[in-house]
Amino acid sequence: MPHEASTYLHRLADQFDLASLAPSTALTSSLTVGGRHVTRIEAEFWTSRQRQASSLHEISYRACFKPQLPRFFIEHLTLPGDLVYDPFMGRGTTPLEAAMLGRAIAGNDLNPLSELLLRPRLEIPSLEQVRERLVKLILDGSARAEFDLSMFYHPATEGELVSLRQYLLMRKATGREDAVDRWIRMVATNRLTGHSAGFFSVYTLPPNQATTPENQRKINEKRKQRPPYRDVKSIIYKKSRSLLKKISSSDVERLQAALKSALLLSTRADRTPEIPDSSVQLVVTSPPFLNVVDYSQDNWLRLWFNGIDLKQVDGKLSVHASIEQWKRAMGLVFQELFRVVRPGGFVAFEVGEVRKRNVLLDEIVAPIGEEAGFLCAGILINRQQFTKTSNIWGINNNEGGTNTNRIVVFRKPR
Ligand SMILES: C[S@@+](CC[C@H](N)C(=O)[O-])C[C@H]1O[C@@H](n2cnc3c(N)ncnc32)[C@H](O)[C@@H]1O
Repeated sequence: MPHEASTYLHRLADQFDLASLAPSTALTSSLTVGGRHVTRIEAEFWTSRQRQASSLHEISYRACFKPQLPRFFIEHLTLPGDLVYDPFMGRGTTPLEAAMLGRAIAGNDLNPLSELLLRPRLEIPSLEQVRERLVKLILDGSARAEFDLSMFYHPATEGELVSLRQYLLMRKATGREDAVDRWIRMVATNRLTGHSAGFFSVYTLPPNQATTPENQRKINEKRKQRPPYRDVKSIIYKKSRSLLKKISSSDVERLQAALKSALLLSTRADRTPEIPDSSVQLVVTSPPFLNVVDYSQDNWLRLWFNGIDLKQVDGKLSVHASIEQWKRAMGLVFQELFRVVRPGGFVAFEVGEVRKRNVLLDEIVAPIGEEAGFLCAGILINRQQFTKTSNIWGINNNEGGTNTNRIVVFRKPR
């Protein structure tokens, strides 16, 4: 069935039927939630072979999902103009994909880096504007950071980076920052560390996590490496070109239109009074999972570059040691989501496979959402085969395997 037609049916139907979205080869099982049978369907719902995602998504962020995931739900469960929201937006995959599809957007993440990563990709400058600004910038290779960064950067690269940082902070502080500055800041933030010549640093961890200076020294010793010179402006230009390579003028217009009414927040997911009651048609999100990822420590270098005090973020981002703590925190988030979602609207809540499958968070999440008033409409497990060349989490393991997303789908009763 074409997407738009199925969308109308799902929006109108009182009985939302997840099975109707599944391919015929799907495996179906059932579990009991709140005394009712809920269907769990396992299949390859979306694949990387399908319509490719926009190049604009290709910035790294810890534990981000692929754009095909929010796209699947946006296309089936919303119409153009509907409001799509992610309370834990990370790099902003959900709002960006929703904006590309002509939906209205709202996005939140307690980490202020998220807005810095998303906004510039909604108000995108032309590659020529980026080039002109970079040409004009005078970067001083002898500038130094207030602490030792020599384990990551060649001295001249550090100097260029430090003066770029000073320029960006000065533009902001004097009210002269514009969309081109914000774009350059977003791209530079993404190029700070990584494991190829496309990043400013010497070889280090994958780009979505910065290691400590101490660990980096160990990595350098082990690999017998010293930071090579990397040309900051040219790396920013190349990455800009690659991000913008498939962007058409109508994409730019759609993204700008979405930005005009966008609600972008940097706050706790369970307290978002800025979002009106019953305004959201669809939430697509993936929460912080127990204590798997420490988002503030992983981002220390990105926060420094953007002049954000680590203390502003550290300890506030949810890192839950126990399932009980995590359940309580998610219960409060679901209460808030119940307030903002409109009757008949949906929540697609993605949980990963944590602790080597000892904990199936989908089974834990289903009753939490129901306690807040939602009805669990089903659980969708997308199993995607990847091949030898796939590079998951930046690790090339030369093996085939599966990449699994578990998504619990809820509906707010009409
Ligand atoms: C799994 S990641 C989301 C990734 C996102 N789906 C993407 O594609 O980039 C979870 C996010 O939750 C944020 N976070 C952690 N605790 C939070 C809280 N209490 N309120 C809002 N955001 C929080 C983290 O900063 C992190 O970006």
